[in-house]
Amino acid sequence: MIIREAVKADLEELLNVAKEAFGQNEGPEIFKLINDLLSDPTARPLLSLVALKDEKIIGHILFTSAQLDTDSNLDIQLLAPLAVLPEEQNREIGGRLIEKGLQILTRKGVKLVFVLGHPNYYPRFGFKVAGRLGLEAPYPIPDEVAAAWMVRELSPGLASKLTGKILCADAINRPEYWRE
Ligand SMILES: CC(C)(COP(=O)(O)OP(=O)(O)OC[C@H]1O[C@@H](n2cnc3c(N)ncnc32)[C@H](O)[C@@H]1OP(=O)(O)O)[C@@H](O)C(=O)NCCC(=O)NCCS
Repeated sequence: MIIREAVKADLEELLNVAKEAFGQNEGPEIFKLINDLLSDPTARPLLSLVALKDEKIIGHILFTSAQLDTDSNLDIQLLAPLAVLPEEQNREIGGRLIEKGLQILTRKGVKLVFVLGHPNYYPRFGFKVAGRLGLEAPYPIPDEVAAAWMVRELSPGLASKLTGKILCADAINRPEYWRE
C-alpha cells in the first residue's frame, strides 16, 4: 500500500471512497463536506492524503486548518473526515493514514490536531479528551459524548497549558457536522 498526498485528478475517486465508507445515510453529507473543504480558502493549509492499493484509492484522510480563539498564532489542524472502503477496513489502513498525517503535520510545525470521532479508536494514536483539558469544540458537545472530542499534541505537554475554543474552517463550521 502507498500513501501519498492527493492531487486534483484523485478528487472523484476519493469522494467515492468517503461516500461508500460512510454509507447511504452519512455518505452524501460527507461527500459534500470534503468537496466544500477542498475549495474553502479558510481550510488552508490543509493536508489531503490517499491510500492506494494496485493504483486504486482505498482510503482518504483530510486535515484542515483550525485556530484557537485565545491564540491565533498557533498552528492547529482538524482531522475530518477519515474513510476506508468497507472491503478494506480493519487492515490498519485508517491507522496508517492517521500516523502518516501526524508525521507530516509535525514536520510542518503544527502543534495540535483535533478530531470529533470514535473514542475507542483515536486514543491508540495518542488522542486525548480535549474538553477535559479546557479546549472546547466549535459547537457544544453534549456531556454523554464528550469523549468524542479529542486532541493530539504534536508538541508534547502543550494542550494542558492552553484553554479556549477551536474555530474551524467555514465549510465545516455548521452544527450538523458537530453531532456525534
Ligand atoms: C473508522 C475507519 C476509518 C477505520 O479505518 P480502518 O482502516 O478500518 O481502521 P484500522 O484497521 O486502522 O483499525 C481498526 C480498528 O478500528 C475500529 N473501528 C473501525 N470502525 C470503527 C467505528 N465506526 N467505531 C469504533 N471503532 C471502529 C475497529 O474495531 C478496529 O479496532 P480493533 O483494532 O480494536 O479491532 C473505517 O472503519 C471507516 O472508514 N469507517 C466508516 C467511516 C467512519 O466512521 N470514519 C471515521 C470518522 S471519525
